[in-house]
Amino acid sequence: MNGSGVVDVAIAGAGIIGLSLGLELRRRGLSVVVIDRQQAMSSASWAAGGMLAVHDPQNPAELLPLSVRSWDLYPEYLERVEALSGKKVPLRTRRAMQCVAPDRATGVRYGETVTAAEAAEFAPGLDAGDNIFEWLDEGSLDPNDVREALPVAFVTAGGTLLEETELLGVESVTDGVLVQTTRKLVSAGMFVNCCGAWAGEGERGLGGLPVVPVKGQMANLRLAPERLRCVVRAPGIYLVPRGDGRVTIGATIEHVGFDETVQEPSIRRMAAAALSLLPEAEAPPLMDMWAGLRPGTPDGLPILGKATKECCWHATGHYRDGILLAPVTAHVMAQAMMGERPDVGLEAFAASRF
Ligand code: GLY
Repeated sequence: MNGSGVVDVAIAGAGIIGLSLGLELRRRGLSVVVIDRQQAMSSASWAAGGMLAVHDPQNPAELLPLSVRSWDLYPEYLERVEALSGKKVPLRTRRAMQCVAPDRATGVRYGETVTAAEAAEFAPGLDAGDNIFEWLDEGSLDPNDVREALPVAFVTAGGTLLEETELLGVESVTDGVLVQTTRKLVSAGMFVNCCGAWAGEGERGLGGLPVVPVKGQMANLRLAPERLRCVVRAPGIYLVPRGDGRVTIGATIEHVGFDETVQEPSIRRMAAAALSLLPEAEAPPLMDMWAGLRPGTPDGLPILGKATKECCWHATGHYRDGILLAPVTAHVMAQAMMGERPDVGLEAFAASRF
């Protein structure tokens, strides 16, 4: 962005979606500013579990083509973020054990059944009880690593990051938009709403999308790293080992507006569910606990593509899969914004479906 605030693309929201899109647009030679009312990566992108859960049976079926493409793009995406930032963002696990009900009637299989020998190898600390687990091929990362690296990568790539800057309004003008912020007036060719759970705040010119905050509370248990080396997902609880003694557990799903407070009784209930699977783990009296707000939509699918307002776009509503879907969102949005045909059709994700 030049000193007078003229830029090709202005993006609102410096979470993993906004910054990844900014990075992709920089690769294509566009000038980009990303604006956030807080520090970059300080909302859902940081609070997330970090599972790259391509085949999570809870995901809507329509998400699969996007999820698969994003998983394909992930190695190159992480390489680029690491190269630009000089910071490591390793995959901390490469497999997930998905619990399947012993009485499941559908006969649908997720993957191969986890054998006793495999359970002893990957999760000797696990008490499976009556649960049957199947393998899913998926990775996980620590969102703290992305928080350290992605904003640096974006700025190193030549992007402008305006943090602690409130978006006040977006107005269409000839050949672009005027973006009013508490810090400066930005004149941009295009505007993208990547405001996550805040993307539906119509009064700031964001387009009145049906995006609602869905609170998730999380915590870290402690466990010797070699006692759990894969993600474990069972009804109502998931466990994500970070490889350094932390096992992140999550998450509540709460429709309570923009409330990000942590309620220790909820965390302790979740910890009890986790400890029934992982009795060796420790839930310390002073546990790391936090909460974030997922951007939920009525059909559980993201909102990707053109807005009704001229020169404006949406990339939001990623609900439980923002970390997984960041690379593909950046890729297909950049394609669409530059008049190319996106690798994955965006019809199912158009804002006009609501
Ligand atoms: N992505 C995990 C969650 O939403 O809890």
